[in-house]
Amino acid sequence: MKHLLKMLDLTSEDITGILNLADQLKYEQKHGIEHRHLAGKTLGMIFEKASTRTRVSFEVGMYQLGGLPIFLSVNDLQIGRGEPVQDTARVLSRYLDGIMIRTFKQSEVEALAQNGSIPIINGLTDFSHPCQVLADLMTIREYKGSLEGLKLCFIGDGNNMMNSLIVAGLKMKMEVAVACPAEYKPSAAVLDFAVTHPAFSITTDPKEAAKGADVVITDVWSSMGMEDEEKKRREAFKGFQVNEEIMSAAKSDAMIQHCLPAHRGEEITEEMFEKHAKEIFDEAENRLHAQKAVLVTLLGKK
Ligand code: CP
Ligand code: NVA
Repeated sequence: MKHLLKMLDLTSEDITGILNLADQLKYEQKHGIEHRHLAGKTLGMIFEKASTRTRVSFEVGMYQLGGLPIFLSVNDLQIGRGEPVQDTARVLSRYLDGIMIRTFKQSEVEALAQNGSIPIINGLTDFSHPCQVLADLMTIREYKGSLEGLKLCFIGDGNNMMNSLIVAGLKMKMEVAVACPAEYKPSAAVLDFAVTHPAFSITTDPKEAAKGADVVITDVWSSMGMEDEEKKRREAFKGFQVNEEIMSAAKSDAMIQHCLPAHRGEEITEEMFEKHAKEIFDEAENRLHAQKAVLVTLLGKK
């Protein structure tokens, strides 16, 4: 593994390796065991969109690993004034040991990886959110013991989260059922991968997708950059709310995951959010541990 660009690039062994290391790093942090695996290393963090969890967990993670995180807002970088990503990548490769980037287009992240000479980590694009999905898998494994054979259900927009969960779930031998309005399907590249797996299903009926699920996952109806579509999307996603009725179709011990931020009353009811808050905030915490595992895997001694 050289970069973390999207879940499609990872093998199931890569994913298991990261999850195992994440568990170990979580244990070490909780027990005050020093784990400065990245002493002297630097991570540039380029943000073209807002962030609470990703920014803070990467900064704290690098600090705990003994390294230095550098926050770089796109508004302050020359990228914001038109300097090509290719040049930025070649320059930053001379200073840094790794780059985390949150941006719009997946192609921008891929271009950084192609033109630079250091590991690139995708901190969210419109296509993929691999760091979040690794934390989700870690949390599901903590609660359920293992992943294989579990039914993962995603209800909502066929955006970065649905794309990444479909691929990750199938790679970890989970059954993956997704429900979305017909006009908000996941990306073609993800569907091409998914349809070769008998364990995958896609429907416009959320209750059908949730039937017998071990974990139900949702995300906002309007992702960052889609603010001007909010009204239209609220209409289109009306029947795609994770609520009591949907959860009654899932297993009685089903958990809920939400990458956050959440819009209560839209993709999830206040009641369901609060009922499953422990799992959801464990998931948020696990961003820290899963990303530390990614950082050690990519930036640590080879
Ligand atoms: N879930 C997630 O990526 O949160 P932030 O947008 O706050 O980083
Ligand atoms: N799908 C959401 C995820 C936020 C973490 C977005 O892209 O805005």
